Amino acid sequence: TLPTLTLAALTLTTTPPSHAQTHPAAVTAGGAVGTRADVLPDPLYPTLGQPGLDVQHYDVRLTVPAPGTPDLRSDTTLSVRADRDLNDVRLDYSGPRVLNVTWNGQPVPYRHTTGQDTTPDKLIVQRALPAGRDARIRVTAAGPAGGVPDPTLNITLGWQSVPATPTQPGANFTFGEPDGTHSLIPCNDHPSDPATFTTTLTVPRGVTAVASGSRLADRAHLNGTHSVTFTLTTPVPTYALGISVGTLDTAARPAVETAGQRVTLTDYFPTSVPNTIRAPYARTGDMLTTLSGWFGPYPFSTYGSVVVTPDLPALETATLSTMPVRSSRERVIVHEIAHQWFGNAVPLASWTDTWLNEGFATYAELLWTQAQGQDTAPLLRGWRDRLRPGTRPLTATTRAQMFDATAYARGALALHALRTQVGDDAFRTFLHTYTRTRAGQPTRTADLLHLTRAQLGPQAAELLNTWITQPDLP
Ligand code: ARG
Ligand code: ZN
Repeated sequence: TLPTLTLAALTLTTTPPSHAQTHPAAVTAGGAVGTRADVLPDPLYPTLGQPGLDVQHYDVRLTVPAPGTPDLRSDTTLSVRADRDLNDVRLDYSGPRVLNVTWNGQPVPYRHTTGQDTTPDKLIVQRALPAGRDARIRVTAAGPAGGVPDPTLNITLGWQSVPATPTQPGANFTFGEPDGTHSLIPCNDHPSDPATFTTTLTVPRGVTAVASGSRLADRAHLNGTHSVTFTLTTPVPTYALGISVGTLDTAARPAVETAGQRVTLTDYFPTSVPNTIRAPYARTGDMLTTLSGWFGPYPFSTYGSVVVTPDLPALETATLSTMPVRSSRERVIVHEIAHQWFGNAVPLASWTDTWLNEGFATYAELLWTQAQGQDTAPLLRGWRDRLRPGTRPLTATTRAQMFDATAYARGALALHALRTQVGDDAFRTFLHTYTRTRAGQPTRTADLLHLTRAQLGPQAAELLNTWITQPDLP
């Protein structure tokens, strides 16, 4: 049962704002069973994801015949299970033209609907999947891959094409958050359905191809291409799938031991990127060690950054953060490392709770600063300053709020207030418990509050709840 003091926060996280529409499948589907019940539809993205569909694994095979162009061939196999009776399987998809769909190896009828915003882009696979049953759905597609618009920034999410210039060969990479991954592959494109990934990339010889996970194999083909396979065995949200293709230098770093576990480190830089941009990445191992002290064991067995040249935000793509040239600074590097726990290993149940990702990742900047023996007061002042123009309760009610100053700075200040009240030892134990118990579990603000109350007591929960729900800055 729920402590009364958390009711306000829970109501905020579970009541869709008035613009939210009921997902058609939510009306027609039968009784909900299984772990993913009741997370969809998302109040901010009511058409994303299919309620009751659980994708367990994506086997992604991409051919990039001419890096820098949008041309793509894809062959994606989804291992799916139904949490409830489904009349069909509705995957999010706005990528290259579908050539063929099979279901457990046999052809199956499908329909591809394309639209804008509330008219969803769906690949509807026309076969029923009864509750508790599995299937392997394979989709092949070819053509130019575009993208989907960002909720606030003037950028396109999804498959990025960086054309060749006189100084730099062409490149491609993914930018998924929040819903760009379905511009590349058919998927259940909502963070409440994390999955494991195997990614095989086929590119021209001499081109480097990297993806989330550990590198398994690199095979040369007679036609002048080669294929590289990566495997990610810890489930992550679809937006966290990282893929990058280009003419890259590989910087292997000494592996680190975090909580008795070995993590290999490799960074990737476009050959045109100067040493001044590469230098701060040399601290990655120290950052991983520092953060695992606070957060608990690092959730994966490999990590690194891939620097990209377009002017985008940085993104915490799993085990392989996507770092624009401008973001190549210690604070951003440590921020994206923190997301490997908060966002990737511990996924959101709803896009309304982005502060759970951004607040923790921003707070990690202070933890690193402090570990360097530096003054943290300027950081704390900076966060307050960012909120001077205005703030809001931590749960977002519009898409525009998902990545605003409140999600980042107020989220971090809330965690600092909690730490200050309970002390470092209790705070550290609390963080370890949170990352251990919520890994792979779609998580809401209410889950954080429950754990706060259970582990740190009612006063701590009340303090955090004030930071979560009060309209003004506490
Ligand atoms: N999660 C990213 C970060 O590290 C921010 C992504 C912003 N995404 C967007 N589509 N505006 O903070
Ligand atoms: Zn972030």
